[in-house]
Formats: sequence, C-alpha cells, structure tokens
Amino acid sequence: MHVVSRFFITTPIYYVNDVPHLGHAYTMVSVDALARWHRLGGEDVFFLTGTDEHGLKIAQAAAENGMSPKEWTDRLSPRFQNAWRRLNISYDDFIRTTEPRHYETVQSFLTAVYENGYIYKDVYRGPYCVSCEAYYQESELVDGLCPIHGRPVTIMEEENYFFKLSAFTERLLEWYDKSPNAVRPSSKRNEALGFIRQGLQDISITRTSIDWGVPVPWDGEHVFYVWYDALVNYLTAIDYGRDEERFRSWWPNVHHVIGKDIIRFHCVWWPAMCMAAGIDPPANVFVHGWLLVGGAKMAKSAGNKVDPLELVDDFGLDAVRYYLLRDTNFGSDGDFTYEALTARYNSDLANNLGNLLQRVTTVIANKLGGVAPSPVKDSPLAPIAAQMMGQAQESWNDFAPQGALEAVWSLIHETNALLEAVAPWKLEPGPVLENVLGDALESLRLVCIAAYPVIPDTASKVWSRIGLDGSPNDQIAPASLGWGLYRSDKKIEKGDPLFPRRK
Ligand code: ME8
Ligand code: MG
Repeated sequence: MHVVSRFFITTPIYYVNDVPHLGHAYTMVSVDALARWHRLGGEDVFFLTGTDEHGLKIAQAAAENGMSPKEWTDRLSPRFQNAWRRLNISYDDFIRTTEPRHYETVQSFLTAVYENGYIYKDVYRGPYCVSCEAYYQESELVDGLCPIHGRPVTIMEEENYFFKLSAFTERLLEWYDKSPNAVRPSSKRNEALGFIRQGLQDISITRTSIDWGVPVPWDGEHVFYVWYDALVNYLTAIDYGRDEERFRSWWPNVHHVIGKDIIRFHCVWWPAMCMAAGIDPPANVFVHGWLLVGGAKMAKSAGNKVDPLELVDDFGLDAVRYYLLRDTNFGSDGDFTYEALTARYNSDLANNLGNLLQRVTTVIANKLGGVAPSPVKDSPLAPIAAQMMGQAQESWNDFAPQGALEAVWSLIHETNALLEAVAPWKLEPGPVLENVLGDALESLRLVCIAAYPVIPDTASKVWSRIGLDGSPNDQIAPASLGWGLYRSDKKIEKGDPLFPRRK
C-alpha cells in the first residue's frame, strides 16, 4: 500500500479587534508557501487558520463601535477571509472560535482536564494586560507597564478556576529533553525552557467578569479565558472528541507556526494542557520573528500599520509574497520598507526572472519561429540546477523559504550569465543557439517548480509561456526535478514583460 505522508500546519488564529495588517500577512504567506511546498511533494496537507473571537479586547472593540460582540466579529472575521483570498492563501479550513463545533471541543477538552484533577477553584488578584489578554506577575512588568505593549495594566480580582500548570514543570522539562526539535529555532526553544526553569505558577483559565466566551460546562457562572479557548482550535479542526480516527491521523504530528510574542502560550501552557487532558503535546512549534516597519513595531497607536492589500494593489500580489519571504530569514526579525520592496522588485523580479523569460522567448520567436529547442544533457547548467534543487528542497523542508529562494535565484543568475556569454541573439540559428536556449528553458522549468510555493501565479504564467501543459503544481517531486525533462510541443510567443520596471 502506498502511504501518503501527512503534513498538518497551523497559523495563530487572529484577534478580530482590528483588520489584518502586514505582520499577519507575513505569517500567512510564509505558512501558505510551506503548505504549497508540501502539497507539491504529494503530501496530504491540512493547513488551518482562523479568527480568535472571544475575550475582553474584542468585547471592548465591539462596544467602542456600538455593536454586540457577535455583530462585531461577524463583520470582522470576513475581512480576514477576504484579505487571505486576495493574498492567495490556500488554507484548507478556516475556524471561527464562535462556531458550535469549537464550543463543543473546548468543553470536552477542558472537561477531560477537569476530570483528570488538574483544575481547581480559587481567588485571583493581579495585573492584567487587555492587549495581551494575559495576567502578569508584578515582577514581570516594566515600569509598571505591560512588557509587550508598554501599556498600563488593570488589576483584576476574581474567583477563577485554575489550571495546575505548576504540576507540569518536570514533565515539560523531560519532554523538551526528549524532543530536541519541539520548538525551533533553538534560541526560541531556550526561551521556552527559560520560562519553565523559572518555575511555573498555576494559571487562571476562567472568567466571571465577562460573558463573551465559551461557557464552563460544570459551572454556568464562568466562561473560559480566551487563550484557553483559542489554543483548543487546533483540536477542534481535526475533530477531537468527535472522530477519533481523524483526530489520530493528524495529532500530535502538527506544525504550529507562531510569532515570537506567543511563545509562552504555545510552548509552555499548551503542551502542559495536552498532557493534562491525556493527549500528546504538539510535536513541532516554529517561531518566527517580528516584521518591523522602518525599524519600529507596527501598532495602532504608532499609526504605522501597513495594509497588505494596498501593497498588492501597488506592486502586484507575487511581488509582495516574494519580498516578504525573500527579505527576512524565517525565525529572525525582519524590517519592511518601501525602498527594500522596490529594490527586490526591480532587481530580482524585473531584471533577473523577468528578463530571463523575456530574452529566451524573444530569441526563440525571432530566430526559431517560436519552436522551442530541447535542453542538452551535459549542459554547464545541469550541475548548478541539481545543486539548486537540493538546496531548495532542504530549505523548504527546514522551514527556510529564504534559503529556497536564494537557491532558485542563483540558478536564474547563472542562466542569465550563460546567455550573456553565448549571446544567442547575435548568432545564426544552429546547434549553439538551440542548445543554450533549450538549457535556459529547462532552467526556467525548474525555477517554476521550486519557486511555485511563493509566487504561484507567476510560476504558472511562466510555465505556460514556455509552452508547458498544466501548472508547476502538478509536479510531484522528486520525479520531475531532474535535469533535461523540458519538452514543449507548443509554439512559444514572446509576451509582455512579467514585471515592468518601477521607478
Ligand atoms: O496573538 N510581525 O492573535 P494576534 C510578524 N489570537 N508577525 C506578526 C506581527 C508582526 N509585526 N504582528 C502580528 C493572537 N503577527 C492570538 C493567537 S493562537 C491559538 C491565538 C502575527 O491577532 C504573528 O504570527 O495578536 C503573531 O503570533 C500573530 O500575528 C498574533 O496575532
Ligand atoms: Mg497580538
């Protein structure tokens, strides 16, 4: 029997207190590219995203806009879906935490934790940051302000149900010890371990002060704290408690991709909660950095939030997707500037990729009547292409889109260099001219496959411009990744430039 391997990848679910900005888009495009790469390789991929709709922050945003929380979230959640459609995000499921399936799962998961003896009732008093939706200890505040948002905290006092996180310190340390790749990159793993080694305090997981949340099934006075309902979305979507077979087919081998602001929730609380409910912790968390804007954190108060859809209108979809993944090492902080986006557009897309396609199709149209020649087996580009494919595959599998794009663009660069050296536009038709053009077409075919996850529309366009059927997405690796397979029966037309240069 042929066993298809499975790849379950998730994004955080976004708070709908405001519309999506470029930071959210950065997570989405990154995860979309990873999902597309794994689909290209023939894996059974499940890509999950959604919106996080409970909690105080959203109740407040709704009130400020004169709406009920339900009306507000029904209005805002589609803004995210629409943005992701425009960014060509290929998610398989979009969860809203206000859906009945999610209420059911939160209640059954947390009932399991309760019945296992890890939830108890007590009074809590302490500083709370509404923007984080999190309690802090006094010692964690910076000048009395939230360490993440730099905003004033409120003092909350409530009778709450608590989760016995303190009971999991040893088990978490053992689990980290056994799972060296559970949290990547290693600097973020160390950060999570640092939290655990400081010693863990029990956490309050219910609220009585608001009613905008999932009701606690054993005590109608309480709703679950938004983070606890939110984390469970990863289980809702794979039918925890409803379809055991489906759940087992995806869990625990998940890849949670998150920003570095939510490490503690995903790398400490969440694995402990899973242990408490009697299921395995999530196998992989990948933490990426901040996308800054001209060196500053994007924030409503700073008025520097960048709208990803405006950028798409201006630069085109694939240029934005390419820039986001090419300019920042996934895992480190990045910095968005218009200048850097324009520079990438002109150098990598217009000059390198666009120019390569333009030259090849123009010479074939002018000198070979539009009939594409075949690549040469022992082309000087063959070993370079093999190396590129190796590096691209390794990078993609390693959650490093930037490395994959670097590899692809080095092949584009070498192909342009070979064309310049041979200068087929100066030659009469004959084997020298045909060979170099056949080789360039083969390079382009491989470029389309390896870059498809990042620039799917462009890769598909180039694919058909060089006379190939279907799309690069039909290519199941690794059979199609070797050198020399390019064949076209169609006539090749010189078309308009893919990426007209910008000023
Ligand atoms: O935290 N740079 O939702 P959220 C890079 N609902 N990524 C950024 C970013 C930036 N400037 N700004 C936001 C929540 N992100 C919770 C999550 S999950 C069970 C619940 C991305 O709307 C990044 O991935 O505040 C971050 O983790 C996520 O948006 C948080 O979005
Ligand atoms: Mg946030």
